[in-house]
Amino acid sequence: MSTDSDTETDASTDTGSNCGASSSETNADDSASKCGGATIGDDGGSSSGCGASSSSSSNSSGEQEVESTVDDFDAEPGRLLAVGLGPGQPEGMTQRARTALMEAEHVVGYTTYIDLIPDEITEAADELYDTPMCGEVSRTEEAIDRALAGNDVAIVGSGDPNVYALAGLALEIIESKGGTASMVDFEVVPGVPAAQSCGARLGAPLVNDTVSVSLSDHLTPMAEIESRLEAVAGEGFTIAIYNPWSRKRRGNYQTCCDILLEHRDPDTPVGIVHGAGREDERVEIVKLGELPDLGETDLVDMTTTILVGNEDTYVWDDRMVTPRGYETKYDY
Ligand SMILES: C[S@@+](CC[C@H](N)C(=O)[O-])C[C@H]1O[C@@H](n2cnc3c(N)ncnc32)[C@H](O)[C@@H]1O
Repeated sequence: MSTDSDTETDASTDTGSNCGASSSETNADDSASKCGGATIGDDGGSSSGCGASSSSSSNSSGEQEVESTVDDFDAEPGRLLAVGLGPGQPEGMTQRARTALMEAEHVVGYTTYIDLIPDEITEAADELYDTPMCGEVSRTEEAIDRALAGNDVAIVGSGDPNVYALAGLALEIIESKGGTASMVDFEVVPGVPAAQSCGARLGAPLVNDTVSVSLSDHLTPMAEIESRLEAVAGEGFTIAIYNPWSRKRRGNYQTCCDILLEHRDPDTPVGIVHGAGREDERVEIVKLGELPDLGETDLVDMTTTILVGNEDTYVWDDRMVTPRGYETKYDY
């Protein structure tokens, strides 16, 4: 069960109206997208691969709108792949994702994710398009427009494209443009989701039924998140909490802790992993009762995933273990 789609940082909750995405790295002189992201050609040039002149814009309420339709493109469409990079380090990427990226002519993504891609892949691409602080709708539309203009495009994100990420948005935008998924041979290339990467660092906390909940209220109202948390906290799930804390979401974190403590023993083991597979990785196992005080520490932020054990979860030799139930059937 997943609760919404969001991106990883405070900045990425920007709806794009005042996108503020600046041209990055070597080329500051262009972008065909109104979004303002940077396009970097492999020759150091600055052409845009997007064949249509329009991209997402914002209406008066700051919501992004899709403007161009498939009729604005004359070319034979290229491919569009949504590629999951996994947790961060190159060896955490699947071989399939690596191959997909090597074959892509254009790679599109949030700057943080583009920076996670190994150099040999980014150097092989004809163009990189990254938006440091831009909205996910405009970035996704840019990727689609580039594919409709005849380019083979990969839009990248951390973890898996189906977990609070852009795979669904890409399909929705293609449909709103009057296109079809088949038209751009749309495919999702899976990556290792944060819950699984973090679970691996903690031992074996996810071996039984698990539910994911995102605390981001960017797209889902907090009241809805609360009711979903209430629904699962009293059941026997391990709970993977994504997007746990940001300066704007202190209250969401505290509300989440309150709900969990209403339903679970304060001694319940909780695994906290910050930056799994990245240079600033930190791994801690604490008790649920300690969780509220950790919201204001460096351990819990928007690159942290929290795994809350179920009633059977225990800590053994510095590892979290959630039994699958074998012990009820077998002697060992
Ligand atoms: C927008 S979601 C993207 C999830 C991603 N698609 C996935 O499959 O993991 C961003 C959230 O994923 C979690 N996350 C992403 N990368 C992480 C990492 N390296 N370590 C721990 N948590 C991470 C954090 O909870 C973060 O707030």
